[in-house]
Amino acid sequence: MPPLRVGLIGSGGISRAHMDGFLNYRDEVELVAVCDIREEVAQAYAADAGVDPSAVYTDAAELLARDDVDAVDIATIHDQHASNTIQAARAGKHVLLEKPMACSVPEAREMVSACEDAGVTFMVAQMLRYLPHYQNVKRIIEAGELGDIWACRADSWFGAALPGSMSRDDWWGFDAQRNGGGSVMMVSTHQVDLLRYFVGNVVRVTAKTWGDHPLMRNGAEDRAVATFEFDSGAMGTLLSSYSARTPWYYQSLILGSKGTIYTEPKPEGNVVDQHHAPARIASEARETKLGHNGLNAFSEVGPDMEGLVSENPFTNEIVHFARCIRDGKVPITSGRDNLNTMEAVHGVYAAAKAGHTIEVSDL
Ligand SMILES: NC(=O)c1ccc[n+]([C@@H]2O[C@H](COP(=O)([O-])OP(=O)(O)OC[C@H]3O[C@@H](n4cnc5c(N)ncnc54)[C@H](O)[C@@H]3O)[C@@H](O)[C@H]2O)c1
Repeated sequence: MPPLRVGLIGSGGISRAHMDGFLNYRDEVELVAVCDIREEVAQAYAADAGVDPSAVYTDAAELLARDDVDAVDIATIHDQHASNTIQAARAGKHVLLEKPMACSVPEAREMVSACEDAGVTFMVAQMLRYLPHYQNVKRIIEAGELGDIWACRADSWFGAALPGSMSRDDWWGFDAQRNGGGSVMMVSTHQVDLLRYFVGNVVRVTAKTWGDHPLMRNGAEDRAVATFEFDSGAMGTLLSSYSARTPWYYQSLILGSKGTIYTEPKPEGNVVDQHHAPARIASEARETKLGHNGLNAFSEVGPDMEGLVSENPFTNEIVHFARCIRDGKVPITSGRDNLNTMEAVHGVYAAAKAGHTIEVSDL
């Protein structure tokens, strides 16, 4: 089977993390063209990825007109995601799109419809699901070791607005018009999607957001607290922040009738390295008594590499995308699955604005 031939649209910051897949899995996925509205950025990427300079574009329509492009990898700014995706689908290209899918729920639904109408595969790059440790948590939950899940929590603390952060003061992530929101949209989309992977779909949301930080623009929030009700009846909370005085920190905690599991980042390393930390579990099945008081102790579990080609989640996701197209399978982070992640995230904004609990089906 020939490799999936991919055109990259948006060759800025995170697209560099996609390059490992293009360079090291060439028999499955081949980068053939690069587009960015900033030509020098596209040229630099092409040079580093071994793409011919004649296949560099500043207009995505020209890249999409190439017959040798089977699929696109879109890593543009959020306010471009809907138009980029719909344009690619109409050109008959499969779509891998960086998170978050869209700046509104109606836009997200239109994108999924456009891809389904065109018969192309649509996958959202929710990279946390492609990490070996989180795959292991998913398998433990599916095996029933935690019993019935009744509660969960995600912490999502990304100090982008703190003095000395790597983010520039005029970063588009602080601008709700470009980002679609603030810290919840930019970062907590990851943790919300992970909770959904472990617990199920979100049906109701209650939330409060704060956007009084001086770097926030056009209504972006720098902090939020949300409560989610899942379709199973389980409840979950999210703490999200750009400005809390903590290190970068991401945690997910799942509580069931027979066990508890939580993931916690390593204190050192970059944002991806931090996720390579074992989850901790206490359960009936692997009861370990502490001698002095008989309480359960947490023990470390994971990672699980089954079905993954690499420890690098970005590499895993692009290979998964190529293999799903090759084998006619639905990606685990399909656009249709991701609709509920978008409903939950946009539900935070709708509930905060309304000042009461909202049903995501009303969005
Ligand atoms: N998975 C992760 O951990 C992770 C981390 C960072 C960013 N992201 C996501 O990746 C995406 C890009 O973020 P980034 O940090 O790389 O941003 P960035 O600003 O560094 O890069 C975006 C690039 O898109 C280009 N661009 C904008 N509009 C375009 C268009 N219409 N056509 C072609 N190019 C266009 C810009 O010139 C820029 O080079 C976002 O969706 C973001 O949320 C994901």
